[in-house]
Amino acid sequence: MINNVLKSYNEKIERAVDLYLPNNESNYKILTEAMRYSLLLGGKRIRPALLLEFYKISGGKNDGALPFALAIELIHTYSLIHDDLPCMDNDDMRRGKPSNHKVFGEDIALLAGDGLLTLAFEVASKTKNISPERVVRAIGELSHFAGMNGMVGGQVIDLQSEGKKVDIKVIEELNLLKTGGLLRAAAKVGTILAGGDEKLIYAADRYGEATGLAFQIVDDILDITADSNILGKPVGSDEKNGKSTFVSHYGIERCRQIVDSLTESAINSLNEFDGDTTFLKELTLYLARREH
Ligand code: IPE
Ligand code: IPE
Ligand code: MG
Ligand code: MG
Ligand code: MG
Repeated sequence: MINNVLKSYNEKIERAVDLYLPNNESNYKILTEAMRYSLLLGGKRIRPALLLEFYKISGGKNDGALPFALAIELIHTYSLIHDDLPCMDNDDMRRGKPSNHKVFGEDIALLAGDGLLTLAFEVASKTKNISPERVVRAIGELSHFAGMNGMVGGQVIDLQSEGKKVDIKVIEELNLLKTGGLLRAAAKVGTILAGGDEKLIYAADRYGEATGLAFQIVDDILDITADSNILGKPVGSDEKNGKSTFVSHYGIERCRQIVDSLTESAINSLNEFDGDTTFLKELTLYLARREH
């Protein structure tokens, strides 16, 4: 079930990419190609899936939240392109193919990231049939968690922690920001767009925080244990860069226990919602057990 539902979310995202980011014959068409290259390599589409699921369980109708689902995937994809650059993690493989800068060069990869980030807000502004108040609040949340108080801030702590012995509280903060940021945004934005009340928005936030931290710990475990062909990116990247992670601090076994307890608390947050949370609960468990 998980794979079929994620596949259908992937199809929605790919159709939306063709709509909002078609190939073109402009003098900058290399930029469009670079942006589409990373977007259409696949990826699990977890953030759009979460956003659209929270929209549904909070009473949202139809595909109203789809522009925001694409927006968050655009921001996520930009973060991956920049994350792989030589000045950051210097990784040559992403989503099973050469990283963006390996195909297009560092200059275009940098600009493809810029283009994706900016396009996200243009696409979000095209949302229809949802009140402007909700859309504006959702844009505020998305930009907050994508920027210095979220993903970008977390990436800075991540880089500054390389090669150092860092307190576990700092490692937790970097994970909550760099990865928790966009997962919190996904859950909150879906709930806000559907008109969920403050109690539900808070529950979505708690869900995103717990799932976000668990998601990055699993990513760090897979960086050691996975097969890079299945993972779609290099293994051993964290060790190569001297990253400070939960795994480098606690070891794999203790990390698996932390992931389980975060997963349980994330699933508990879903009990606040009246909508059918069966799929979200399964997805949350799947994320804890995933192999890529
Ligand atoms: C990878 O995210 C980067 C992290 C924040 C851990 P995903 O594991 O969601 O990557 P894709 O989108 O499936 O490629
Ligand atoms: C970073 O964490 C995530 C982002 C915010 C882009 P990693 O650097 O561990 O992500 P991967 O392993 O390269 O996907
Ligand atoms: Mg990184
Ligand atoms: Mg990386
Ligand atoms: Mg990683």
